[in-house]
Amino acid sequence: MSQSQDALKQQAAEAAVEMVASGMVVGLGYGSTALLAVRHLAKLVAAGRLTGIVGVACALAMEQEARRLGITVSSLEEHPRVDLTIDGADEVDPQLNLIKGGGGALLREKVVAQASGQEIIIVDESKLSPRLGTKWALPVEVVPFGRRPLAEHIAALGAKVKLRTGPDGRPFVTDQGNNILDCNFGPLEDPAAVAAALEGRAGVVEHGLFLGLASQVIVAGAQGLRRLTP
Ligand code: A5P
Repeated sequence: MSQSQDALKQQAAEAAVEMVASGMVVGLGYGSTALLAVRHLAKLVAAGRLTGIVGVACALAMEQEARRLGITVSSLEEHPRVDLTIDGADEVDPQLNLIKGGGGALLREKVVAQASGQEIIIVDESKLSPRLGTKWALPVEVVPFGRRPLAEHIAALGAKVKLRTGPDGRPFVTDQGNNILDCNFGPLEDPAAVAAALEGRAGVVEHGLFLGLASQVIVAGAQGLRRLTP
């Protein structure tokens, strides 16, 4: 990744953290951009500029990192209502629908997003897309038991399907013990129809289409920051 893309992600991350107030329960997303936000949040907590912050993490790795940085981390059991979540995205369309799950945390990310008063998405401008599916295959989390018939079913819906593997070449395993099928449908004319088709199949745990969930998308680009709202 280029220096400038890092700098853009940092700007978006800091702008989102400005929306956090003392005493908030904050959803901690996953991915490289969300990590920058967590680091910035931790700095403000350490400096005493934000107090009483409780984080709810969208991934085990982020939970560990947030704790390491000195953020108090709790669970949805303890805090079922999240005030504001800051998360990244892989692709954002003009309606602010998203594809997420590049990091494999889509299930927890969606659970936390749906439990959040505000879902703030932070991206650099490379994530903007005229149509979801143009730049990114759709991640679909499936139970390992059904992964082959599910891959065949999703292929029959029109996608090129690839089982995600980890660095060791073995199937990638999510925090929930599931696998991910990366499903390249090409540009999606009707994301809601694809979402419904996937949701109708047993063994599909969740998919990376986040439709109508973003409260605001903060986009950092060469021309500065933009805050997009639905
Ligand atoms: C994690 O599962 C994803 O949904 C991330 O939010 C997404 O991949 C964005 O990651 P980056 O900020 O690293 O691009």
